[in-house]
Amino acid sequence: MSYNNYNILVTGGAGFIGSNFIRYLFEKVNFDGIIVNFDLLTYAGNLKNLEDISEKYSGKNYFFEHGDICDKKRVGEIFDKYDINMVVHFAAESHVDRSILGPEEFVRTNVQGTFTLLEAARTYWLNNNGKSDKAKLTFNIHNSSLTKRFHHISTDEVYGSLGDMGYFYETTPYDPRSPYSASKAASDHLVRAYYHTYNLPVTISNCSNNYGPYHFPEKLIPLMILNMLDEKPLPVYGDGKNIRDWLYVEDHCSAVWKILTEGEVGETYNIGGENEWENIKLVNRLCEIVANKMGKDKDYYKKLITFVKDRPGHDRRYAINCDKIKNKLGWKQSVDFEKGLEKTVDWYLNNKEWVETVKSGEYKKWVEMNYDKR
Ligand code: NAD
Ligand code: DAU
Repeated sequence: MSYNNYNILVTGGAGFIGSNFIRYLFEKVNFDGIIVNFDLLTYAGNLKNLEDISEKYSGKNYFFEHGDICDKKRVGEIFDKYDINMVVHFAAESHVDRSILGPEEFVRTNVQGTFTLLEAARTYWLNNNGKSDKAKLTFNIHNSSLTKRFHHISTDEVYGSLGDMGYFYETTPYDPRSPYSASKAASDHLVRAYYHTYNLPVTISNCSNNYGPYHFPEKLIPLMILNMLDEKPLPVYGDGKNIRDWLYVEDHCSAVWKILTEGEVGETYNIGGENEWENIKLVNRLCEIVANKMGKDKDYYKKLITFVKDRPGHDRRYAINCDKIKNKLGWKQSVDFEKGLEKTVDWYLNNKEWVETVKSGEYKKWVEMNYDKR
């Protein structure tokens, strides 16, 4: 299959999931179209995440463009320059703790940035006034026509917090509870509004917690692995019984690709691991995996576990029902959690240079100012 008619704008492609997605397309899908990685390179964006891809494909199938999704002029220029016919929108402020400490940037990037991208797509793809001319929304690829697509990456956190029972469905009413999830919810609403109002060909996915290579070390799994290696405390919030549903990042990427190529315009798809873990159980298991790799006693790192003050408004449990994408698009998870954790720990052990670069910059100052006070 050739995709050489696809000119995809990937926003936030230098971040954790965005960079995994770009790698997935080149390495697993044999993508032969054009990918434009548009990224502001905030503290979370890192071109090292794609060094190998850039060496192989830069100037041919891969282009990096530095810029801000809130910058209307710059975003418009990118659509023009590359004749963009698909958008996969990852760029966001993504960390809940940071949204509690400083919500403004979340509203700017996640809400204003998404709005700016939607407007650029509407301007470039559609007749500006009123509803779209449907003919303008298709382009031909090997005798079959495909609509233009704006795929918005969102989170299960928009649905709020679950008790012991139940799941998040695509029909679950929104109930975001942190500035992060509220800003993502607002962006989801805007994306849907552009579909209903302007016929912009959108799809949305709401995914559970990802883990895997290139995960920024402010997030639970990499934070714990790297703190173990530094023999630093392993801070567990509250009673440690909050539950998250973990998915290996490459499985998220394969789901996004499925939706982009086979999903129905206007639809929302939940993506999840069907893999719920209490934080404390997960941290204990990670301690054992790292101990095994480091030739230590099984319980060696567990003594570092420290219960700290809870995250304000900490959502208790997330659990995704992803029957829709499984049944309608034939997607399924492929990486078993135990194997995924092993792969992740190995990746951090084998990529010390990446770890040192990430840990030594702006992030180091932020940890000292915020996290080390806990
Ligand atoms: P990340 O923080 O690792 O990466 C975000 C990227 O966006 C960075 O490269 C950053 O430089 C870029 N960026 C930030 N502001 C920008 C701006 N104004 N203009 C251009 N680029 C900008 O995030 P992630 O964990 O990879 O998450 C990616 C997306 O997936 C987000 O939309 C997030 O809400 C969503 N999501 C994440 C998870 C998860 O578990 N990490 C789960 C579900 C959904
Ligand atoms: O559910 C999807 C969401 O998952 C994404 O939308 C977010 O972008 C992503 O950051 C993630 O949000 P969480 O808040 O669930 O992830 P985090 O890794 O920050 O925390 C996971 C759990 O671990 C959560 O219950 C809080 C807890 N935690 C986290 C940290 C950083 C701790 O107990 N200690 C910690 O030091």
